[in-house]
Amino acid sequence: MSKVVRFDRFGTVDVLNVVEVEKPSPSPGRVLVRTITAGINPGEIKIREGQLEDIFPTTFPCGEGSDFAGIVAELGEGVTSPAVGTAVMGWSDERSAQAEFVSVPADQVIVKPESLDWKVAGSLCIVATTAKAAVAAVAPQRGETILVSGAAGSVGSLVTQLVLRTGASVVGTAGASHHDWLRSLGAIPIGYDNDLQASLGRVAPSGFDAVIDTVGHGYVDLAIKLGVEPNRVNTIIDFEAAARHKVHTDGASKAQSNTVLTEIAKLIVNGELQVRIAAVYDLKDVRQAYTQLEQGHTGGKIVLRVADP
Ligand SMILES: NC(=O)c1ccc[n+]([C@@H]2O[C@H](COP(=O)([O-])OP(=O)(O)OC[C@H]3O[C@@H](n4cnc5c(N)ncnc54)[C@H](OP(=O)(O)O)[C@@H]3O)[C@@H](O)[C@H]2O)c1
Repeated sequence: MSKVVRFDRFGTVDVLNVVEVEKPSPSPGRVLVRTITAGINPGEIKIREGQLEDIFPTTFPCGEGSDFAGIVAELGEGVTSPAVGTAVMGWSDERSAQAEFVSVPADQVIVKPESLDWKVAGSLCIVATTAKAAVAAVAPQRGETILVSGAAGSVGSLVTQLVLRTGASVVGTAGASHHDWLRSLGAIPIGYDNDLQASLGRVAPSGFDAVIDTVGHGYVDLAIKLGVEPNRVNTIIDFEAAARHKVHTDGASKAQSNTVLTEIAKLIVNGELQVRIAAVYDLKDVRQAYTQLEQGHTGGKIVLRVADP
């Protein structure tokens, strides 16, 4: 049997339950992974509340979760690697990662670097691929100044660091408690409470070359108001404003690949990228985990602990 997170109607965290189902067996081309850690992401909240039915329709009962890390338990026909017993990390496209066992196509896992923390490994794929796509969409150049909204968020903090690696400067909006950390990365933090447009004018009097929005709340409109070319703006959240202004909306689906996951994992292991972990919850406490995530200011990934390594 396998304990899995499930919901059978739209609603608040109260519709989430951990139930026992039959352990999946991997069909040809797939691997079965015994999960150690799994991530949670804000998009899953909107799906569970029924807000994304136009884009990602739901059938009930519905599972949860994309990101996971664990140990290969079984191989489906035709799969020879990674061998049973290998530590791996990867993603599910089937809302099934928050479970004791997850079955995915074999090319949706990579070998987990030994020194990569299980908590980071199990919560990396969505944020890593989203950040990679968002940065690529606006192609920052050395010497440019890029505005990143939500610069201390899970996606935003990776965006910030990937932009800085190009030699561009980052001005990042964030709550005050994250400003020292953003400075330590080399970014210029700015609060979002007061007159943001005026504050941005003071911090970057020559304006911005590109904007990467991870928050919504009018940042796409602001980017256009600031005179940034629409093809140098990417939002991963405000699709309505993106359609109006014809800006990019590149996110996880654009970059989701084992190549990108491998690249980002390697940068983290080498100490060239930081991922903060805000909290760890046991699988059975999945409701509390999402309750914390819903607050929107977590300052790092929230991770579900499914089993001991
Ligand atoms: N399109 C895609 O492929 C894709 C993929 C992943 C995520 N997303 C979406 O991207 C968004 C961010 O995801 P995440 O995982 O990074 O979330 P997260 O870790 O919870 O970060 C949320 C961020 O929003 C900031 N924020 C909250 N309220 C704000 C406000 N009023 N003004 C400015 N900033 C505010 C927070 O800033 P402080 O903590 O500094 O206050 C924090 O940086 C979510 O909406 C998610 O659904 C899209």
